[in-house]
Amino acid sequence: MPASERAFLDALMRVATLAMSRREAPLGAPQPVAEIAAAIPLDPPRDGIPFDEVVSRLEAIVARSVNTASPRFHNQLFSGLQPVALVGDFVGTLLNTTMATWEASPAATAVELALLARLCRVTGFEHGDGTFTDGGSESNLLALLAARHRACPAIRESGRWPDRPLVAFVSADAHYSVATAAQAAGIGLANVERIPVDARGRMRPEALAAALASARARGARPFFVCATAGTTFRGSVDPIGAIAEVCRGEDVWLHVDACLGAPALLSPRHRHLLEDVRQADSVVWDAHKLIGVPLTCSALIVREAGRLEAACAPDGAAYLYHGDGDPDLGRRGLKCARRVGALKLWATWMHLGDAGLAARIERLFERAAFAAALIRDTPGLALAAPVETVAVCFRPAAPDGVDAGALTRQVRARLLADGDAFLNYGPLEGVDTLRLLVSNPEVSDADLRAVVDASARARLAVLELVETP
Ligand SMILES: Cc1ncc(COP(=O)(O)O)c(C=O)c1O
Repeated sequence: MPASERAFLDALMRVATLAMSRREAPLGAPQPVAEIAAAIPLDPPRDGIPFDEVVSRLEAIVARSVNTASPRFHNQLFSGLQPVALVGDFVGTLLNTTMATWEASPAATAVELALLARLCRVTGFEHGDGTFTDGGSESNLLALLAARHRACPAIRESGRWPDRPLVAFVSADAHYSVATAAQAAGIGLANVERIPVDARGRMRPEALAAALASARARGARPFFVCATAGTTFRGSVDPIGAIAEVCRGEDVWLHVDACLGAPALLSPRHRHLLEDVRQADSVVWDAHKLIGVPLTCSALIVREAGRLEAACAPDGAAYLYHGDGDPDLGRRGLKCARRVGALKLWATWMHLGDAGLAARIERLFERAAFAAALIRDTPGLALAAPVETVAVCFRPAAPDGVDAGALTRQVRARLLADGDAFLNYGPLEGVDTLRLLVSNPEVSDADLRAVVDASARARLAVLELVETP
Protein backbone atom coordinates (compact mmCIF):
# COMPACT_ATOMS: atom_id res chain seq x y z
CA MET A 1 0.00 0.00 0.00
CA PRO A 2 1.44 3.44 -0.89
CA ALA A 3 2.63 5.44 2.13
CA SER A 4 0.06 8.20 1.51
CA GLU A 5 -2.80 5.68 1.68
CA ARG A 6 -1.40 4.14 4.86
CA ALA A 7 -1.14 7.63 6.43
CA PHE A 8 -4.76 8.33 5.46
CA LEU A 9 -6.06 5.06 6.93
CA ASP A 10 -4.03 5.57 10.11
CA ALA A 11 -5.46 9.07 10.43
CA LEU A 12 -9.00 7.79 9.97
CA MET A 13 -8.44 5.17 12.66
CA ARG A 14 -7.03 7.76 15.09
CA VAL A 15 -9.89 10.15 14.48
CA ALA A 16 -12.52 7.40 14.73
CA THR A 17 -11.01 6.24 18.03
CA LEU A 18 -11.08 9.81 19.25
CA ALA A 19 -14.74 10.14 18.24
CA MET A 20 -15.66 7.04 20.21
CA SER A 21 -13.95 8.33 23.34
CA ARG A 22 -15.91 11.60 23.23
CA ARG A 23 -18.85 10.32 25.26
CA GLU A 24 -16.66 9.72 28.31
CA ALA A 25 -14.25 12.61 27.77
CA PRO A 26 -14.47 15.66 30.06
CA LEU A 27 -16.96 18.39 29.17
CA GLY A 28 -14.26 21.03 28.73
CA ALA A 29 -14.96 24.67 29.58
CA PRO A 30 -14.48 27.11 26.69
CA GLN A 31 -10.87 28.32 26.61
CA PRO A 32 -9.83 31.82 25.53
CA VAL A 33 -8.65 31.99 21.93
CA ALA A 34 -5.29 33.45 23.01
CA GLU A 35 -4.69 30.45 25.29
CA ILE A 36 -5.46 28.01 22.48
CA ALA A 37 -3.31 29.93 20.02
CA ALA A 38 -0.45 29.89 22.52
CA ALA A 39 -0.71 26.13 23.04
CA ILE A 40 -1.13 24.92 19.46
CA PRO A 41 0.90 26.28 16.53
CA LEU A 42 -1.94 27.51 14.31
CA ASP A 43 -0.19 29.56 11.66
CA PRO A 44 0.37 27.43 8.52
CA PRO A 45 4.16 26.97 7.99
CA ARG A 46 6.16 27.75 4.88
CA ASP A 47 7.13 24.09 4.48
CA GLY A 48 4.49 21.52 5.26
CA ILE A 49 4.57 19.20 8.26
CA PRO A 50 4.08 15.41 8.07
CA PHE A 51 0.57 13.97 7.83
CA ASP A 52 0.66 12.32 11.25
CA GLU A 53 1.77 15.58 12.85
CA VAL A 54 -1.21 17.34 11.28
CA VAL A 55 -3.42 14.68 12.84
CA SER A 56 -1.74 15.29 16.22
CA ARG A 57 -2.57 18.99 15.93
CA LEU A 58 -6.13 18.14 15.02
CA GLU A 59 -6.29 15.98 18.13
CA ALA A 60 -4.98 18.93 20.14
CA ILE A 61 -7.75 21.08 18.70
CA VAL A 62 -10.34 18.49 19.71
CA ALA A 63 -8.83 18.38 23.21
CA ARG A 64 -9.33 22.15 23.54
CA SER A 65 -12.86 22.12 22.19
CA VAL A 66 -16.09 21.97 24.17
CA ASN A 67 -17.20 18.35 24.20
CA THR A 68 -20.76 18.50 22.88
CA ALA A 69 -20.91 14.69 23.00
CA SER A 70 -20.66 14.80 26.80
CA PRO A 71 -23.84 13.96 28.70
CA ARG A 72 -23.12 17.15 30.70
CA PHE A 73 -23.58 19.32 27.60
CA HIS A 74 -27.07 20.83 27.65
CA ASN A 75 -26.31 24.31 26.34
CA GLN A 76 -27.78 23.92 22.89
CA LEU A 77 -29.95 21.61 20.90
CA PHE A 78 -27.09 19.71 19.34
CA SER A 79 -25.48 17.11 21.57
CA GLY A 80 -24.47 13.49 21.68
CA LEU A 81 -22.85 11.50 18.94
CA GLN A 82 -24.25 9.00 16.45
CA PRO A 83 -21.55 6.98 14.67
CA VAL A 84 -23.78 6.15 11.71
CA ALA A 85 -24.46 9.85 11.16
CA LEU A 86 -20.73 10.62 11.27
CA VAL A 87 -20.15 8.01 8.58
CA GLY A 88 -22.97 9.45 6.46
CA ASP A 89 -21.43 12.91 6.86
CA PHE A 90 -18.00 11.63 5.90
CA VAL A 91 -19.38 10.04 2.75
CA GLY A 92 -21.08 13.34 1.90
CA THR A 93 -17.68 15.02 2.18
CA LEU A 94 -15.86 12.42 0.15
CA LEU A 95 -18.34 12.79 -2.71
CA ASN A 96 -17.05 16.36 -2.83
CA THR A 97 -19.74 17.64 -5.10
CA THR A 98 -22.45 20.26 -5.15
CA MET A 99 -26.13 19.70 -4.67
CA ALA A 100 -26.79 22.46 -7.22
CA THR A 101 -27.33 20.13 -10.15
CA TRP A 102 -28.58 16.61 -10.64
CA GLU A 103 -25.77 15.83 -13.08
CA ALA A 104 -23.09 16.71 -10.51
CA SER A 105 -24.76 14.78 -7.70
CA PRO A 106 -27.22 12.24 -9.13
CA ALA A 107 -27.21 9.81 -6.20
CA ALA A 108 -27.27 12.52 -3.53
CA THR A 109 -30.10 14.24 -5.42
CA ALA A 110 -32.02 10.95 -5.34
CA VAL A 111 -31.43 10.73 -1.60
CA GLU A 112 -32.54 14.33 -0.96
CA LEU A 113 -35.65 13.88 -3.09
CA ALA A 114 -36.54 10.68 -1.25
CA LEU A 115 -36.06 12.36 2.14
CA LEU A 116 -37.99 15.48 1.10
CA ALA A 117 -40.85 13.29 -0.12
CA ARG A 118 -40.84 11.45 3.20
CA LEU A 119 -40.77 14.68 5.22
CA CYS A 120 -43.69 15.98 3.14
CA ARG A 121 -45.66 12.79 3.81
CA VAL A 122 -44.96 12.86 7.54
CA THR A 123 -45.95 16.54 7.66
CA GLY A 124 -49.13 15.97 5.66
CA PHE A 125 -48.12 17.85 2.49
CA GLU A 126 -49.55 15.72 -0.33
CA HIS A 127 -48.21 17.80 -3.22
CA GLY A 128 -45.22 19.46 -1.61
CA ASP A 129 -41.54 19.73 -2.32
CA GLY A 130 -38.61 21.40 -0.61
CA THR A 131 -34.90 21.70 -0.23
CA PHE A 132 -32.20 20.90 2.25
CA THR A 133 -30.39 23.94 3.64
CA ASP A 134 -27.52 24.75 5.96
CA GLY A 135 -29.73 25.38 8.96
CA GLY A 136 -32.99 26.61 10.32
CA SER A 137 -32.10 30.26 9.79
CA GLU A 138 -31.57 29.70 6.08
CA SER A 139 -34.78 27.66 5.89
CA ASN A 140 -36.72 30.49 7.55
CA LEU A 141 -35.26 32.95 5.03
CA LEU A 142 -36.32 30.80 2.06
CA ALA A 143 -39.83 30.44 3.50
CA LEU A 144 -40.11 34.18 3.88
CA LEU A 145 -38.89 34.75 0.32
CA ALA A 146 -41.43 32.24 -1.02
CA ALA A 147 -44.15 34.07 0.92
CA ARG A 148 -42.99 37.46 -0.34
CA HIS A 149 -42.98 36.16 -3.91
CA ARG A 150 -46.50 34.78 -3.63
CA ALA A 151 -47.75 38.06 -2.18
CA CYS A 152 -45.84 40.41 -4.54
CA PRO A 153 -44.24 38.65 -7.52
CA ALA A 154 -43.26 42.01 -9.06
CA ILE A 155 -40.54 42.53 -6.43
CA ARG A 156 -38.42 39.72 -7.86
CA GLU A 157 -38.47 40.93 -11.45
CA SER A 158 -38.68 44.68 -11.30
CA GLY A 159 -37.79 45.42 -7.70
CA ARG A 160 -41.07 47.32 -7.54
CA TRP A 161 -42.57 47.26 -4.06
CA PRO A 162 -46.24 47.77 -3.35
CA ASP A 163 -47.32 51.11 -1.89
CA ARG A 164 -48.52 49.36 1.25
CA PRO A 165 -45.75 47.98 3.53
CA LEU A 166 -45.54 44.20 3.77
CA VAL A 167 -45.87 43.01 7.35
CA ALA A 168 -44.74 39.73 8.95
CA PHE A 169 -46.01 38.35 12.28
CA VAL A 170 -44.09 36.15 14.70
CA SER A 171 -44.52 35.37 18.36
CA ALA A 172 -42.60 37.29 20.98
CA ASP A 173 -40.71 34.05 21.68
CA ALA A 174 -39.84 33.25 18.03
CA HIS A 175 -36.24 32.66 17.01
CA TYR A 176 -34.37 35.79 15.94
CA SER A 177 -33.66 34.34 12.49
CA VAL A 178 -37.19 35.18 11.33
CA ALA A 179 -36.59 38.89 11.94
CA THR A 180 -33.16 38.60 10.34
CA ALA A 181 -34.79 37.00 7.30
CA ALA A 182 -37.28 39.88 7.09
CA GLN A 183 -34.42 42.33 7.25
CA ALA A 184 -32.51 40.50 4.49
CA ALA A 185 -35.62 40.27 2.30
CA GLY A 186 -36.15 44.03 2.48
CA ILE A 187 -39.24 43.83 4.67
CA GLY A 188 -37.64 45.87 7.46
CA LEU A 189 -37.45 45.05 11.13
CA ALA A 190 -40.14 47.63 11.86
CA ASN A 191 -42.54 45.52 9.80
CA VAL A 192 -42.05 42.40 11.90
CA GLU A 193 -44.76 42.38 14.53
CA ARG A 194 -44.19 40.38 17.67
CA ILE A 195 -47.38 38.78 18.93
CA PRO A 196 -47.65 38.33 22.71
CA VAL A 197 -47.47 34.85 24.19
CA ASP A 198 -49.50 33.22 26.96
CA ALA A 199 -48.10 32.14 30.32
CA ARG A 200 -46.65 29.00 28.66
CA GLY A 201 -44.86 30.94 25.94
CA ARG A 202 -47.34 30.13 23.13
CA MET A 203 -48.51 32.71 20.60
CA ARG A 204 -51.96 34.04 21.47
CA PRO A 205 -54.18 33.51 18.40
CA GLU A 206 -56.63 36.26 19.40
CA ALA A 207 -53.73 38.71 19.67
CA LEU A 208 -52.62 37.62 16.18
CA ALA A 209 -56.14 38.22 14.83
CA ALA A 210 -56.16 41.69 16.39
CA ALA A 211 -52.71 42.50 14.98
CA LEU A 212 -53.72 41.40 11.48
CA ALA A 213 -56.88 43.52 11.64
CA SER A 214 -55.00 46.51 12.94
CA ALA A 215 -52.34 46.20 10.19
CA ARG A 216 -55.03 46.10 7.52
CA ALA A 217 -56.83 49.04 9.12
CA ARG A 218 -53.72 51.20 8.82
CA GLY A 219 -53.26 50.19 5.19
CA ALA A 220 -50.42 47.67 5.57
CA ARG A 221 -50.31 44.31 3.74
CA PRO A 222 -49.91 41.30 6.08
CA PHE A 223 -48.20 38.53 4.09
CA PHE A 224 -46.40 36.16 6.47
CA VAL A 225 -47.27 34.56 9.78
CA CYS A 226 -44.66 32.39 11.48
CA ALA A 227 -45.76 29.99 14.20
CA THR A 228 -43.10 28.17 16.20
CA ALA A 229 -43.26 24.50 17.11
CA GLY A 230 -40.68 24.34 19.85
CA THR A 231 -39.57 27.83 20.84
CA THR A 232 -35.89 28.38 21.41
CA PHE A 233 -36.01 29.11 25.11
CA ARG A 234 -39.08 27.40 26.56
CA GLY A 235 -39.58 24.74 23.89
CA SER A 236 -43.23 25.72 23.62
CA VAL A 237 -45.43 24.77 20.70
CA ASP A 238 -47.71 27.51 19.38
CA PRO A 239 -51.38 26.49 18.86
CA ILE A 240 -50.92 25.84 15.15
CA GLY A 241 -54.56 24.86 14.46
CA ALA A 242 -55.94 28.03 16.04
CA ILE A 243 -53.33 30.15 14.24
CA ALA A 244 -54.20 28.48 10.92
CA GLU A 245 -57.85 29.29 11.64
CA VAL A 246 -56.96 32.97 12.12
CA CYS A 247 -54.92 32.95 8.90
CA ARG A 248 -57.70 31.35 6.84
CA GLY A 249 -59.11 33.90 4.39
CA GLU A 250 -56.40 36.44 5.29
CA ASP A 251 -54.23 35.77 2.22
CA VAL A 252 -51.12 35.28 4.36
CA TRP A 253 -48.49 32.57 4.13
CA LEU A 254 -48.41 30.44 7.28
CA HIS A 255 -44.94 29.18 8.04
CA VAL A 256 -44.15 26.88 10.95
CA ASP A 257 -40.65 27.10 12.34
CA ALA A 258 -40.50 23.55 13.64
CA CYS A 259 -36.70 23.44 13.80
CA LEU A 260 -36.96 22.01 17.26
CA GLY A 261 -40.33 20.28 17.35
CA ALA A 262 -40.90 18.71 13.91
CA PRO A 263 -39.41 15.31 14.80
CA ALA A 264 -42.25 14.89 17.32
CA LEU A 265 -44.37 14.12 14.24
CA LEU A 266 -42.51 10.79 14.09
CA SER A 267 -43.71 9.80 17.55
CA PRO A 268 -47.23 8.41 17.90
CA ARG A 269 -47.15 9.69 21.50
CA HIS A 270 -46.19 13.30 20.73
CA ARG A 271 -47.45 13.75 17.17
CA HIS A 272 -50.61 15.47 18.43
CA LEU A 273 -48.52 18.54 19.36
CA LEU A 274 -47.90 19.28 15.69
CA GLU A 275 -50.76 17.47 13.96
CA ASP A 276 -52.08 20.77 12.52
CA VAL A 277 -48.88 21.63 10.62
CA ARG A 278 -50.52 20.09 7.57
CA GLN A 279 -52.47 23.36 7.33
CA ALA A 280 -49.30 25.44 6.97
CA ASP A 281 -47.73 26.64 3.72
CA SER A 282 -44.21 25.70 4.81
CA VAL A 283 -42.45 23.90 7.63
CA VAL A 284 -38.78 23.66 8.71
CA TRP A 285 -37.26 20.49 10.07
CA ASP A 286 -33.79 20.62 11.60
CA ALA A 287 -32.19 17.20 11.75
CA HIS A 288 -29.20 18.52 13.71
CA LYS A 289 -31.38 19.25 16.70
CA LEU A 290 -33.54 16.44 18.12
CA ILE A 291 -32.58 13.86 15.49
CA GLY A 292 -28.97 14.36 16.51
CA VAL A 293 -27.10 14.33 13.21
CA PRO A 294 -23.96 16.50 13.06
CA LEU A 295 -24.45 20.20 12.30
CA THR A 296 -25.88 21.38 10.00
CA CYS A 297 -28.83 19.60 8.44
CA SER A 298 -32.12 21.35 7.84
CA ALA A 299 -34.96 20.92 5.38
CA LEU A 300 -37.61 23.40 4.33
CA ILE A 301 -40.72 21.86 2.84
CA VAL A 302 -43.60 23.71 1.20
CA ARG A 303 -47.19 22.52 0.76
CA GLU A 304 -47.36 23.53 -2.90
CA ALA A 305 -44.54 22.18 -5.07
CA GLY A 306 -42.79 24.79 -7.17
CA ARG A 307 -43.09 27.69 -4.72
CA LEU A 308 -39.39 27.71 -3.84
CA GLU A 309 -38.27 27.48 -7.43
CA ALA A 310 -40.64 30.30 -8.39
CA ALA A 311 -39.15 32.51 -5.69
CA CYS A 312 -35.47 31.58 -6.03
CA ALA A 313 -34.56 30.05 -9.41
CA PRO A 314 -31.57 31.97 -10.75
CA ASP A 315 -31.51 33.96 -13.92
CA GLY A 316 -28.61 33.82 -16.35
CA ALA A 317 -27.12 30.52 -15.24
CA ALA A 318 -27.68 28.49 -18.41
CA TYR A 319 -24.07 27.30 -18.19
CA LEU A 320 -25.01 25.37 -15.05
CA TYR A 321 -28.70 24.59 -15.10
CA HIS A 322 -29.20 22.82 -18.41
CA GLY A 323 -32.70 21.67 -17.54
CA ASP A 324 -32.37 18.41 -19.43
CA GLY A 325 -32.31 15.90 -16.61
CA ASP A 326 -33.80 15.35 -13.22
CA PRO A 327 -34.49 18.26 -10.83
CA ASP A 328 -31.60 20.59 -10.12
CA LEU A 329 -32.06 21.27 -6.43
CA GLY A 330 -29.94 24.43 -6.59
CA ARG A 331 -32.89 26.13 -8.29
CA ARG A 332 -34.88 25.89 -5.05
CA GLY A 333 -32.57 28.05 -2.95
CA LEU A 334 -30.05 30.87 -2.95
CA LYS A 335 -26.79 28.96 -3.13
CA CYS A 336 -24.77 27.67 -6.02
CA ALA A 337 -22.37 25.23 -4.34
CA ARG A 338 -24.11 23.41 -1.50
CA ARG A 339 -22.50 20.49 0.22
CA VAL A 340 -24.05 17.06 0.33
CA GLY A 341 -25.74 17.43 3.69
CA ALA A 342 -28.58 14.94 3.71
CA LEU A 343 -26.60 11.69 3.72
CA LYS A 344 -26.06 11.90 7.48
CA LEU A 345 -29.81 12.10 8.03
CA TRP A 346 -30.46 9.36 5.51
CA ALA A 347 -27.87 7.06 7.14
CA THR A 348 -29.38 7.72 10.57
CA TRP A 349 -32.98 7.17 9.46
CA MET A 350 -32.05 3.98 7.57
CA HIS A 351 -30.27 2.65 10.65
CA LEU A 352 -32.87 3.59 13.27
CA GLY A 353 -35.96 3.30 11.11
CA ASP A 354 -39.19 5.10 11.94
CA ALA A 355 -39.46 3.09 15.13
CA GLY A 356 -35.96 4.04 16.28
CA LEU A 357 -36.52 7.73 15.60
CA ALA A 358 -39.86 7.65 17.44
CA ALA A 359 -38.16 5.94 20.40
CA ARG A 360 -35.42 8.58 20.34
CA ILE A 361 -37.90 11.45 20.46
CA GLU A 362 -39.93 9.79 23.21
CA ARG A 363 -36.79 9.20 25.22
CA LEU A 364 -35.80 12.88 24.89
CA PHE A 365 -39.21 14.06 26.11
CA GLU A 366 -39.07 11.58 28.97
CA ARG A 367 -35.52 12.70 29.91
CA ALA A 368 -36.64 16.33 30.02
CA ALA A 369 -39.58 15.42 32.26
CA PHE A 370 -37.21 13.45 34.50
CA ALA A 371 -34.84 16.43 34.80
CA ALA A 372 -37.79 18.68 35.64
CA ALA A 373 -38.94 16.29 38.38
CA LEU A 374 -35.45 16.27 39.90
CA ILE A 375 -35.34 20.06 39.91
CA ARG A 376 -38.80 20.25 41.49
CA ASP A 377 -37.56 18.02 44.31
CA THR A 378 -34.25 19.81 44.89
CA PRO A 379 -34.12 22.45 47.63
CA GLY A 380 -32.79 25.77 46.37
CA LEU A 381 -33.88 25.21 42.75
CA ALA A 382 -37.23 26.03 41.18
CA LEU A 383 -38.72 25.38 37.77
CA ALA A 384 -39.36 28.64 35.93
CA ALA A 385 -41.74 27.30 33.27
CA PRO A 386 -43.72 24.14 32.52
CA VAL A 387 -41.82 21.67 30.36
CA GLU A 388 -43.54 21.60 26.97
CA THR A 389 -40.99 19.57 25.01
CA VAL A 390 -37.28 19.22 25.82
CA ALA A 391 -36.36 22.57 27.39
CA VAL A 392 -36.19 22.75 31.16
CA CYS A 393 -36.07 26.31 32.49
CA PHE A 394 -35.16 26.78 36.14
CA ARG A 395 -33.65 29.22 38.60
CA PRO A 396 -31.53 28.99 41.70
CA ALA A 397 -33.71 30.45 44.45
CA ALA A 398 -32.49 33.92 45.39
CA PRO A 399 -32.76 34.91 49.05
CA ASP A 400 -34.04 38.41 49.82
CA GLY A 401 -31.62 41.06 48.71
CA VAL A 402 -29.88 38.82 46.12
CA ASP A 403 -30.32 39.68 42.44
CA ALA A 404 -31.96 36.57 40.93
CA GLY A 405 -30.54 37.19 37.46
CA ALA A 406 -26.99 37.71 38.74
CA LEU A 407 -27.28 34.52 40.80
CA THR A 408 -28.38 32.59 37.69
CA ARG A 409 -25.40 33.86 35.71
CA GLN A 410 -22.93 33.08 38.47
CA VAL A 411 -24.28 29.58 39.01
CA ARG A 412 -24.00 28.92 35.32
CA ALA A 413 -20.42 30.21 35.17
CA ARG A 414 -19.45 28.08 38.13
CA LEU A 415 -20.98 24.92 36.65
CA LEU A 416 -19.01 25.52 33.50
CA ALA A 417 -15.72 26.38 35.20
CA ASP A 418 -15.94 23.23 37.33
CA GLY A 419 -16.75 21.09 34.28
CA ASP A 420 -20.00 19.94 35.91
CA ALA A 421 -22.46 21.12 33.27
CA PHE A 422 -22.84 23.40 30.29
CA LEU A 423 -26.26 25.02 30.58
CA ASN A 424 -27.43 28.17 28.89
CA TYR A 425 -29.24 31.14 30.36
CA GLY A 426 -31.45 33.91 29.07
CA PRO A 427 -34.20 36.24 30.16
CA LEU A 428 -37.56 34.70 30.96
CA GLU A 429 -40.21 37.15 32.02
CA GLY A 430 -37.48 39.67 32.65
CA VAL A 431 -35.25 37.51 34.86
CA ASP A 432 -32.19 35.60 33.66
CA THR A 433 -33.03 31.90 33.91
CA LEU A 434 -31.09 28.67 33.42
CA ARG A 435 -32.07 26.49 30.49
CA LEU A 436 -31.21 22.80 30.33
CA LEU A 437 -31.90 21.30 26.91
CA VAL A 438 -32.17 17.58 26.40
CA SER A 439 -31.18 16.47 22.93
CA ASN A 440 -28.98 13.50 23.74
CA PRO A 441 -30.99 10.34 24.51
CA GLU A 442 -27.94 8.73 26.10
CA VAL A 443 -28.09 10.96 29.18
CA SER A 444 -28.75 8.67 32.11
CA ASP A 445 -30.59 9.26 35.36
CA ALA A 446 -27.19 9.60 37.03
CA ASP A 447 -26.02 12.22 34.49
CA LEU A 448 -29.09 14.36 35.04
CA ARG A 449 -28.94 13.92 38.80
CA ALA A 450 -25.30 15.03 38.71
CA VAL A 451 -26.20 18.18 36.76
CA VAL A 452 -29.07 19.07 39.08
CA ASP A 453 -27.06 18.35 42.25
CA ALA A 454 -24.15 20.39 40.92
CA SER A 455 -26.55 23.28 40.23
CA ALA A 456 -27.80 23.22 43.80
CA ARG A 457 -24.22 23.04 45.11
CA ALA A 458 -23.12 25.88 42.86
CA ARG A 459 -25.96 28.01 44.19
CA LEU A 460 -24.83 27.42 47.77
CA ALA A 461 -21.23 28.11 46.85
CA VAL A 462 -22.13 31.34 45.06
CA LEU A 463 -24.21 32.43 48.01
CA GLU A 464 -21.22 31.54 50.20
CA LEU A 465 -23.46 29.49 52.40
CA VAL A 466 -20.97 26.65 52.22
CA GLU A 467 -17.21 26.51 52.28
CA THR A 468 -15.94 26.86 48.70
CA PRO A 469 -13.20 24.41 47.83
C1 LIG B 1 -36.96 27.68 16.90
C2 LIG B 1 -35.67 27.89 16.16
N1 LIG B 1 -35.71 28.30 14.89
C3 LIG B 1 -34.59 28.49 14.17
C4 LIG B 1 -33.35 28.29 14.73
C5 LIG B 1 -32.12 28.54 13.92
O1 LIG B 1 -31.66 27.32 13.47
P1 LIG B 1 -30.14 27.14 12.99
O2 LIG B 1 -29.30 27.30 14.21
O3 LIG B 1 -30.15 25.75 12.40
O4 LIG B 1 -29.88 28.19 11.96
C6 LIG B 1 -33.25 27.87 16.06
C7 LIG B 1 -31.94 27.67 16.69
O5 LIG B 1 -31.83 27.34 17.83
C8 LIG B 1 -34.44 27.66 16.79
O6 LIG B 1 -34.41 27.29 18.08
